[in-house]
Amino acid sequence: MARRPRYPATMDPDFWRTRWAEGRIGWHQDAPNAHLVAHAALFDRARRVFVPLCGKSLDLAWIAARPHAPAVVGVELVEDAARELFEEHGLTAERVEEDGVIRYRGGSIEIVVGDYFALGADVLGHFDACFDRAALVAMPPAQRPRYVAHQRGLLAPGARTLLVTFVHDAPPDSPPFSVPEAEVRALYEGCRLTLLGQHEELVSTSLLSRGVKSARELVFAIEA
Ligand SMILES: C[S@@+](CC[C@H](N)C(=O)[O-])C[C@H]1O[C@@H](n2cnc3c(N)ncnc32)[C@H](O)[C@@H]1O
Repeated sequence: MARRPRYPATMDPDFWRTRWAEGRIGWHQDAPNAHLVAHAALFDRARRVFVPLCGKSLDLAWIAARPHAPAVVGVELVEDAARELFEEHGLTAERVEEDGVIRYRGGSIEIVVGDYFALGADVLGHFDACFDRAALVAMPPAQRPRYVAHQRGLLAPGARTLLVTFVHDAPPDSPPFSVPEAEVRALYEGCRLTLLGQHEELVSTSLLSRGVKSARELVFAIEA
């Protein structure tokens, strides 16, 4: 009998499409992320901010509304999420399809719809800041080095990343995966990395159903 691969489902685009189609988006927060708000000064000089695997997060509009009005670019696999992000902010967005790439643009926010790994600097440009929440932790272990290498390829020298990860003891069979400090340090080797804080996290229903009793969020500042 063929052995079941250990981490297949979460890399399958259909896993995410099904979650969106069924409205199972428990990761979505109805306010800007508290760690982003607390550490926003990290982005004070940023002109272009990257938000990988952005969903329909309120964080993009919150960053775009900062006093120095940076441009914010998200990447998201599921087009409905991109459309809903603008609709739910009451923002008008234009949908542009060029060279096979779908972009939603409204104000200083742009969402590029597609597979993160297929979207390079030729499509996205370079960034001087990045906000990663529920993105690295959505990647199964084997994909994380590639995920981080791709992200680093999009960041200009000196770019700053605010990264939020989880540490918990659920089995590594579905997101959010546990990504502890040692792994983050190995993934971002060569960057200046500061652990800004560790916070006990209210255990979500999805983690409870996986047997987790407590979980922590780790918040990092990373300079490329
Ligand atoms: C756990 S959610 C986090 C969303 C957002 N960062 C937030 O905090 O609400 C992960 C998102 O990444 C998207 N996604 C998963 N794999 C992707 C890929 N390879 N390329 C682009 N988006 C992807 C999913 O559709 C989903 O919306």
